[in-house]
Amino acid sequence: MNKNKFPKNFIWGTATSSYQIEGAYDKDGKGISIWDTFSHIKGNIYNNDTGDKACDHYNRYKEDIKIMKELGIKSYRFSISWPRVLPNGKGEVNQKGLDFYKNLIDELLKAGIEPVVTLYHWDLPQALQNNGGWENKEIINAFHEYAKLILSEFNDKVKTWITINEPFVVAFNGNSRGEHAPGIKNHKIALQVAHNLLISHGEAVKLFREMNLKGKIGISLNLTSTYPNTDKKEDINAAKLLEEYINGWFLDPIFKGRYPKKLSKIYRDKYGPINKLSKDFDIIKQKIDFLGINYYTRALVKHNPDSKFYNIETIKTNDSNYTAMDWEIYPDGLYDLLIKINKKYTDLPIYITENGAAFNNQLDNGKIHDENRIEYLYKHFKKTLKAIKKGVPVKRYYVWSLMDNFEWAYGYSKRFGLIYIDYSTQKRFFKDSAYWYKKVINSNSIKNNK
Ligand code: BGC
Repeated sequence: MNKNKFPKNFIWGTATSSYQIEGAYDKDGKGISIWDTFSHIKGNIYNNDTGDKACDHYNRYKEDIKIMKELGIKSYRFSISWPRVLPNGKGEVNQKGLDFYKNLIDELLKAGIEPVVTLYHWDLPQALQNNGGWENKEIINAFHEYAKLILSEFNDKVKTWITINEPFVVAFNGNSRGEHAPGIKNHKIALQVAHNLLISHGEAVKLFREMNLKGKIGISLNLTSTYPNTDKKEDINAAKLLEEYINGWFLDPIFKGRYPKKLSKIYRDKYGPINKLSKDFDIIKQKIDFLGINYYTRALVKHNPDSKFYNIETIKTNDSNYTAMDWEIYPDGLYDLLIKINKKYTDLPIYITENGAAFNNQLDNGKIHDENRIEYLYKHFKKTLKAIKKGVPVKRYYVWSLMDNFEWAYGYSKRFGLIYIDYSTQKRFFKDSAYWYKKVINSNSIKNNK
């Protein structure tokens, strides 16, 4: 057997999200999202970029699907813009918005590509934010209504569903650090947001079962591996605490029906009693069909008494390379994570719903020589295969991203795509990594492909 081959039915794909690629932010009856509002405020986004036009995917989806077909991907993960289909977040439905996704899904199926839908990838209707957004418990009903609409509309054609993308980032980048929409800086609010996101996820899974739908539903979490910088006890504890903050705060409720103990106590001491009812956890821990993991980098951690964040400091090392995001390239972190999740939490199928890297490769006579991205992907594929051989049921892999796009607070300055976008002309160019990925998909193997 070729030791570089992936299992027979392994599914290779790419991922995107609505706000990052669609553009057409006010076309055909779409409502405004918190990212429209946030990006229109000067100073929030690098270079004051906005997603108003992005990759113009709303108008160019057919061309983009041709590209996917050319790449040979088996599955495409995208998200639905909630305010495009429900401009006020609830109530009145925008038929033209639904039509866009119907056409997109039909076109994908025609091309033989399986559509995978993320219900929420961060573009909350502004109307709901005006009513407290994810902090207000009423959002749970609104998300339920939105999920019901989308599931009813598309369940005959879509068989793989992701409820929420990265509740960690929604809660903490958006509501504690304020670097993402809605730009709130309050950790206590962020904790309430995280909790309501988790309940909304659980309610959507429950709804999916009640509707008796065929197919699979899961969630995508951004997970990392944390490592102490030395084997001093205080560094080890700092690494453990960071792991609870990023991974445990979401994995524990979903798989164990409770929050991690240590951090819960810290939060309780700091913010007073936080009312989490046991019936909340009954909803949160609904059985899912797969776990989606988004992995980019590890965290190297040291104890620092001066750090405001619970004495935790993440540090860089001279022994590693870093991407344009300044994220350490650490493929072993993915391997360790997969093994740990499988041991500690679940033997459910795992889908890598995002992995990839930003680099500053330039367009050079119509070509983009991104050897660095090939290297990054190759190493992460290899570690995934190693985990599969150890028995971890990784079934799918979605490279982030199909094409360069709006990288949130970094605007268009960070390029994660396999496809290069010239934003002045909206022309698409295959990077070398796209040709390389095509070979991987085609052979279902990383052999001789490096
Ligand atoms: C998100 C993507 C984002 C990517 C790179 C993930 O956190 O789901 O939307 O572009 O990472 O930062």
